[in-house]
Parts: sequence; structure tokens; C-alpha cells
Amino acid sequence: MPLNYGDDVVIMFDDGSTYLIKLNENSQFGTHKGNIKHSELVNRNFGDVFELNGTYVYILEPTIVDYIFKMKRRTQIVYPKDSGFVLLMLDIKEGDRVIDAGVGSGAMCGLLARYVGNTGRVFAYERREDFIELAKKNLERWGLLNRVEFKNRDISEGFDEENVDAFFLDVPDPIPHIGNVWKVLKGSGRLAVLCPTTNQVQDVIKKMQQTGFARIEVWENLFRQYKPNPKRLRPFDRMVAHTAYLVFGIKINQEEKGVDSK
Ligand SMILES: C[S@@+](CC[C@H](N)C(=O)[O-])C[C@H]1O[C@@H](n2cnc3c(N)ncnc32)[C@H](O)[C@@H]1O
Repeated sequence: MPLNYGDDVVIMFDDGSTYLIKLNENSQFGTHKGNIKHSELVNRNFGDVFELNGTYVYILEPTIVDYIFKMKRRTQIVYPKDSGFVLLMLDIKEGDRVIDAGVGSGAMCGLLARYVGNTGRVFAYERREDFIELAKKNLERWGLLNRVEFKNRDISEGFDEENVDAFFLDVPDPIPHIGNVWKVLKGSGRLAVLCPTTNQVQDVIKKMQQTGFARIEVWENLFRQYKPNPKRLRPFDRMVAHTAYLVFGIKINQEEKGVDSK
């Protein structure tokens, strides 16, 4: 369908730079290559290419990764490098009921909301009201707000839900909350804890073993992107060396009988 006012569009230049814009009447968009009037994009289609001051401009449909990289943020967010893997390890699928704590700017929350589908639900806990407002704005833009129930609360007060399928825990001090996470998960429900340091990973493993989790796994994802030049194929000079460690586990129905790792 041809583009219209109100649509989100990714504009990409030859040098790979991208911009996410919403088409508005009487607006123009200033770039390092020149200005583009929004009216010039209306009635074009995703995939179209046009010339601007000697360079090509590509009109692309925004993906969830575009939305995550371009989202408004006031906290550290979980990037696709880690969040995609979390989705798989938590086995997130249509109809799942999932808890996300803390929500922060809403990157992981939005991704969970996307994959639980229309029949699933994300219960999103965050103690800062201003972060909840920001996350709501981000999710509204992604069209996913109606799948999320926000709870403006400190998670030390516990959780309202029962028998949830999966839990994503991303707060600075996760250890004191793991007992309550165990209570709210269904048997064999899946937990992911994001930890910034190895010291914290050690404590999280111990606590999960004591609480009643099995199949505990610790992962660090190292990604190296290559310059897509077939004649001179080599990695980019810089890479992201560290984002987070990810600890996963599965609830067993015996409190304080977690399984020791080998
Ligand atoms: C790193 S941010 C989370 C980022 C988020 N997962 C994302 O993908 O954008 C950590 C959040 O946890 C919240 N938080 C920390 N301790 C909390 C607690 N005890 N209860 C609720 N929220 C908490 C903070 O306010 C902060 O917004």
C-alpha cells in the first residue's frame, strides 16, 4: 500500500545511516545529505529508491530492530544481540503470560509483547513512574501497548500473578527477588536474569540453586559484524565487547531443592 501521513518509515542512505520518521503534513526532514519533504515520500512504496543531491535514498519498512535502536530511552536497554536469544531461551510464543521486571525504557517489554501475540499478556513491573510513562509511549508507537499490563511498583512487594510461563528479571539487584519469582512461575516455567558482572552471576547461580531451579545455564553472547564487501571481507574495526551475562533456569516444583551444577 502506498505511504501516507501517519506512517513510520526508515530512510537509509548509501553510507548505511538510517533514520526512523513518522510522516507528517507540512514537515520536512533535515539530513547530512539535504532536506526531504515528507510530502515527497507520500504515495511512494516501501522498497522505493530515489536520488537526493547525488546520493541514493532508500525507503524501508521499519523492523522491530529499527524501533529498538531508535527508541527514546532513559535507561540502559537490552539490545537485540541479547534480547533475541532471551526470547528463544524463554521459549516465548503466542498466548504466553510473561513478567518483565524492571521495565526501564521498555525495549525487552516491547519485544516480549510482540511475541506473546494477541492472546498473550506481559505483566510489566517498574518502580519509577516516569520510566513507565516512557515505556508506554515507546510501546504505543510499536502498536503493542494493548498487550501489556503495567504495574508501578517495587518488586520487593511481590507479584500479583500466578502460574506465569516465563519471567525476565533485569533489575540492579536481582538476588532478593528470586524467591518471589519462583512462587509466581508455573512448574517448568522459565527464568532469565540479566547480570552486568560475573560477581553477580555467581550469586544468582547460588540463589537459583537454593531456590528450586534446574537446567541453569550461563551465557555471554559475543557478536562480530563484518563489512559486507565481497572483495574485502573483514570485520568492522570496533566491536561491542560487553553488554551483559544471561542466566537461565527452569522452575522445579520443589522449593529449596534446586539442582547443583557440575
Ligand atoms: C536496566 S533497566 C531495565 C531495562 C529494560 N529491561 C529494557 O529492556 O529497556 C532496570 C530497571 O529496573 C528498575 N528497577 C530497579 N529495581 C527495581 C525494583 N526493586 N522494583 C521495580 N523496578 C526496579 C529501574 O528503575 C530500571 O528502570
